[in-house]
Amino acid sequence: MRIILAGFGTVGQALTKVLHKDEQRIVQAYGFRPQLTTIVDSQGSCFDEAGLDIPLVLKTKEKYGTVAKYPGSGHRNDGNSRTRIISDSEAEVVVETTPTNYKDGEPGLSNIKTALSTRKHVVTANKGPLALAMPALLELARHRNRQLRFSGTVGGGTPFLDFAAKCMPGEKIARIKGILNGTTNYILTRMENPSLTFQKALAEAQKKGYAEKDPTHDVEGFDTAAKIVIIANWVLTKGISLRDIKITGISKIKPQELRKAQASGARIKLIGRIEESSASVRPEEIQADDPTCVPDTLNALTFSTEHAGDITLVGPGAGGERTASAIVRDLVSIRKEYAV
Ligand SMILES: NC(=O)c1ccc[n+]([C@@H]2O[C@H](COP(=O)([O-])OP(=O)(O)OC[C@H]3O[C@@H](n4cnc5c(N)ncnc54)[C@H](OP(=O)(O)O)[C@@H]3O)[C@@H](O)[C@H]2O)c1
Repeated sequence: MRIILAGFGTVGQALTKVLHKDEQRIVQAYGFRPQLTTIVDSQGSCFDEAGLDIPLVLKTKEKYGTVAKYPGSGHRNDGNSRTRIISDSEAEVVVETTPTNYKDGEPGLSNIKTALSTRKHVVTANKGPLALAMPALLELARHRNRQLRFSGTVGGGTPFLDFAAKCMPGEKIARIKGILNGTTNYILTRMENPSLTFQKALAEAQKKGYAEKDPTHDVEGFDTAAKIVIIANWVLTKGISLRDIKITGISKIKPQELRKAQASGARIKLIGRIEESSASVRPEEIQADDPTCVPDTLNALTFSTEHAGDITLVGPGAGGERTASAIVRDLVSIRKEYAV
């Protein structure tokens, strides 16, 4: 399996390390060897048809900040070269790990469209293109008879999407609700401490590396909303995008509101919710003994089913290595379905 990796940051580098470490295990267990033949970052790319030397490419990135300096085959970008690299390549799979962009989905959207249009399977950790255009991208994949997979976009390594798709055939899932963003959950958990305002809790989350320097996507609810779009389309075949979701973030929450909720045995959490005919993201009061009510950076998702009752999955929701694990799961699934 020849792979183009677009984006070589936290998730991209973690994926290369996991693939390098687990290579023999994957060959033995699944009968194929995933080989990174091209890696692209914001400045350039490197290529080796026989498979890139992973320790060398990681060392190059660390030393020079770009894979364009990879000995022998590193190149700086020129204009349109990113999508041309994808379309001209003979690789079977594109793994998309460029930054999430909720305005126009780029550069991930063009990368994914180009890959599917030139009959390559796609595994994306990048939510932006799915949040904006998931129904159209699934249709393009179906039309080209290729796979579009995205396990790492929701729940990091916790298999929320696979659980619903693979473990519950035949059951009707009526509603879904959950905590899908570790950063905001950490902030709200810390704000239960009376002396911590939103700003202080956010600063603490940034110091610990849970929140980005620009935390807008997380605290204003866009990250949760993008995940709700992905779940709604994949698990409930809703055909929706980000603009169909009512979104309220947590930046205006006051410590007094949290304390009032606590006094009545509840907590305030940023809840993503999919009902029969609507979907929303907003801070909600939720009883402390509800299984969805998890603390710190944990994620939890509750599926309300017609016959089996409420089923809740809990796990860590992000992190480079965990997301890499979800990407490997997707690569194995693609291999199982298609002899690539
Ligand atoms: N980190 C997580 O825990 C996590 C979990 C789930 C999903 N995700 C998603 O996975 C994606 C990657 O996350 P990350 O944390 O790895 O981000 P990151 O560390 O910021 O890495 C992004 C990578 O994309 C590269 N890039 C930027 N613009 C590009 C372009 N136009 N063409 C090619 N490459 C480009 C960057 O290049 P440079 O290296 O040159 O800057 C960098 O290598 C995001 O969409 C994120 O939302 C992340």
